[in-house]
Amino acid sequence: MDRVRISLQGAAPVVAVLAVAGIVFTGDAVAQGAFQAGTDEVTSEATYYSAVQAVLTRNCVGCHGPNAAALGGITPPMELTTYEVARRWSSRIATAVKNNYMPPWDADVQHKGVFKDERYLSDEDKQTLISWAEAGAPMGDPSEAVAVVNLADVVTSSAEVAPDGSLWRAGVPDVTFGFEEPVLVCEEIEDWQPRLPMQVVDGEITEPKWIRSMEINTGPSVHHTVSSHLGVGVPGRGPFEFPEGWAILLTEDPYVSISMHYHKEAGPGTAVFDNTKGGMRFYDDGDVIDYVVETNIQAFMDFTIPAGHPNYPVYNETHFDEDIYLLSMGPHAHYRGKAVKIELQRPDRPFRETLLWVPDYDFNWQFQYELEEPYLIPAGSTMYITWWYDNSADNEYNPDPTVDVSGGPATTDEMANARIYFARTEPLGLIAGGEIPEEILERSRAAEDRARRRALDWESASQSCGVSIASRSR
Ligand code: HEC
Repeated sequence: MDRVRISLQGAAPVVAVLAVAGIVFTGDAVAQGAFQAGTDEVTSEATYYSAVQAVLTRNCVGCHGPNAAALGGITPPMELTTYEVARRWSSRIATAVKNNYMPPWDADVQHKGVFKDERYLSDEDKQTLISWAEAGAPMGDPSEAVAVVNLADVVTSSAEVAPDGSLWRAGVPDVTFGFEEPVLVCEEIEDWQPRLPMQVVDGEITEPKWIRSMEINTGPSVHHTVSSHLGVGVPGRGPFEFPEGWAILLTEDPYVSISMHYHKEAGPGTAVFDNTKGGMRFYDDGDVIDYVVETNIQAFMDFTIPAGHPNYPVYNETHFDEDIYLLSMGPHAHYRGKAVKIELQRPDRPFRETLLWVPDYDFNWQFQYELEEPYLIPAGSTMYITWWYDNSADNEYNPDPTVDVSGGPATTDEMANARIYFARTEPLGLIAGGEIPEEILERSRAAEDRARRRALDWESASQSCGVSIASRSR
């Protein structure tokens, strides 16, 4: 069956019609396809130009394309923008999409349409890539190229270049944060997840500011990053931009903290310096701020996963005693994390609803799932986070299946949380540049303080690589 070729120009409608008419691909079609294969005149099969280029451009080139590396994290091994490269990678492309390894996106398909920037590959597109690879990656005729998407739109349409050469998708930031000196990720390190301070390196913060967008700009070997004030960075993700009138409050603090995840091969000659930056854009004085966005990771450490256990569940609950709008969820565990479900029990419903189901968690991709529309969680609701862990030898990422693992902050500990971004529902009508109620300032300071206290000691984290990133006044 996999040698059947059908025209994939306008693939979706053709397939749909065939399905409705109940037509089955016959041996004839197979024979004809096979007969035609290998000749340049073949038009009845998916070629690079007739179909594959469009599929790659729509689904892959945002990361596997020009400038993607500079815009968000680990570097994909190739740019899928030319026939030559796509052909060379065709069998690995087929494997990667068959295994659902690419495009990276962990939320179950039941959530299709719910989250921003979702990455589901349609069955048709998946099949196009697989049959094309199996047919030997035919090129087809460049004149057939389907101009589905403008490459520039996918990649860097809105990016602006800062004076130092860095690219920012949300525009050049008002304030840029960076490490005091580049962080050395030394040779021995394969995997390292320190929490580090970042200070203002460009611009200044002399009074509290309302953040309208935040963006992380990472270097090579950085797998993902998380910061209360800078958001979450995974490869290929753009900035967080809040809707008009929604903002995070940044107090006068000249430091923000960021959790880095460095991942590379260990060994001689592999040391790299990382100079990740974070940027923020602020509301202008006079703009109206109605909703103050806050974040909470729902930390929970009180559990122990028995050595060798293949499917150990951990339950984490959060109760809401005020109405809130939920903006996003970012489940977080380490190497043994296997699956996670976030459910909500509202007081007005007899059943728990599933807000997020990740059946096959991959710690390499720390997605922050942003809802297309803020979701009202009424007072009296409880959020249930269930994590499942694989502490057995079958888990290829498991560093040591012979030990019990407890909740804790180190990479070798486990975590069972989910970062949420939310806002209280009462519109505040605050004016940027004007008075900020003390209660709101206090909440913002307390949240960042909590994050720092919970974190690994900055100095000891950075010392593990022999580099001194001095511990800062907190
Ligand atoms: C969110 C960004 C992103 C998107 C979208 C994406 N990729 Fe990737 N891809 C990566 C990164 C980063 C790597 C390298 C790291 C890794 O292998 O985990 C990679 C690796 C790969 C590899 C190499 C895997 C191997 O065999 O080592 C293939 C093949 C691939 N991607 C194909 C695709 C295809 C095909 C699509 C679209 C259907 C796609 N990718 C979409 C980021 C992305």
